[in-house]
Amino acid sequence: MPVTLRRAFRTYAPEPDAEHAISTETVVGYPFTSGGLELEPEYKHLLRTRPVARITTPTGDPAWLVTGYEECRAVLGDARFSRSAIAAPAGPRQQIPSVPPNAFNGMEMLRRTGEARAVLQHLRPRRIAIHRPWIEGLAEQLLDAMVRRGAPGDLVADYAAPFPLAVMCRVLGLETGRDGRPSYADEERLAYWSDVAFSMNSRDPTEIAASWAELREYLAGEVARVRRDPGDGMLATLVAARDDHGSFSEDELLDTTAGLLVVGYKTLISFLGLAAVALLRHPEQAGRTAQDPVRLLPTAVEELLRYVLIENRGVARIATERVRVGDVTVAAGELVVVALHAADHDPGTFPDPGRLEATRRDAEHLAFGHGEHFCPGSALARLQIHCALAALLPRLPALRLAVPAEQLTWRDGLILRAPATVPVTW
Ligand code: HEM
Repeated sequence: MPVTLRRAFRTYAPEPDAEHAISTETVVGYPFTSGGLELEPEYKHLLRTRPVARITTPTGDPAWLVTGYEECRAVLGDARFSRSAIAAPAGPRQQIPSVPPNAFNGMEMLRRTGEARAVLQHLRPRRIAIHRPWIEGLAEQLLDAMVRRGAPGDLVADYAAPFPLAVMCRVLGLETGRDGRPSYADEERLAYWSDVAFSMNSRDPTEIAASWAELREYLAGEVARVRRDPGDGMLATLVAARDDHGSFSEDELLDTTAGLLVVGYKTLISFLGLAAVALLRHPEQAGRTAQDPVRLLPTAVEELLRYVLIENRGVARIATERVRVGDVTVAAGELVVVALHAADHDPGTFPDPGRLEATRRDAEHLAFGHGEHFCPGSALARLQIHCALAALLPRLPALRLAVPAEQLTWRDGLILRAPATVPVTW
């Protein structure tokens, strides 16, 4: 067994506990993050041996880590596992908080107040199809600029980062320049605020609070502008829900908008950077897809969603009552961490899961989650991934990494994985 595994699987003698008699050994080292394209050996080991395992989170709280595909689907599809309960002040924590407890609970607030339907219609496939020509044009425009500047380019700074931010600004109806992008200063500030919101390691609480407050202040300016001149973006619908129906407070309006903006573009930056690296490391798959995009691009996008490990730590739930998951019993009040990225590499569901195969159709992946909190932005995400690859692959058929793959650097300390840069030549 490699040294890292021996270290990671150190265990301690548990308290006697009849309820958890099957598996009380605690696996040490969660969240096992090493960045990059490969699922960590610790997750692979758990998938083979203990699809539901006892862990301690970085805050010292005990929890269950679910890695098995079927077990993950079971937890996410079971209303007895609550997401809102993770904000409870005295409950167990998955990590040291990086944002106010309710910052990412906007969707639940919208469901509770009956406003979700109106707001989410902006993310429905028919609605986002309206943006498609513009999104295709944006992809071409960013590639033109990268090619004009000459090799080497950086697929993160030149393509993966500005692309989804501009799309999210358009969908929300935020102010941009004539090119559809926010100003350089706003791009920089948004990158910082979203990094803090998505940080996994402890940051200084004062910095966290200040960063979220600045993001809200920026959005308060946008809300004031939308009140004067509504337009037809998602923010206008949110503002109307607040002003016309009084459904929620101004604070909730700002938190919900901040959550949507950050989630909506930060996930795509990570994903597009990781997908680019995956395709550059599998040029035969990229080449096949580029030659037959109508047939292969849709399955290639789904396979990339399965293959790419965007998560670093999994999504959290609290059991509201005693529930059996796999071969363990989870007690009421316990924290359960669902490792979606591990589930999508479960060899029992996806044979040879570390192989990228553009035509794979084994099972539905869990990249967008499952059940009540299934990602409402999935259609917008798929559209962007499709447009980004449809523009990139045929345009630069000789695209390759400009540095050896081992020299790629990865973002550190975020809940999402991402390459820091992807230097390319063509
Ligand atoms: C590749 C891109 C994306 C991935 C991999 C992704 C993944 C996910 C996952 C796994 C969840 C479920 C979390 C849970 O169960 O606790 C989720 C929820 C969510 N996603 Fe996405 N997402 C992506 C893009 C987007 C976009 C573009 C938007 C917005 C426009 C968005 C908005 C949301 C929201 C608001 C939720 C919370 C839903 C709720 O609480 O019910 N996501 N996403």
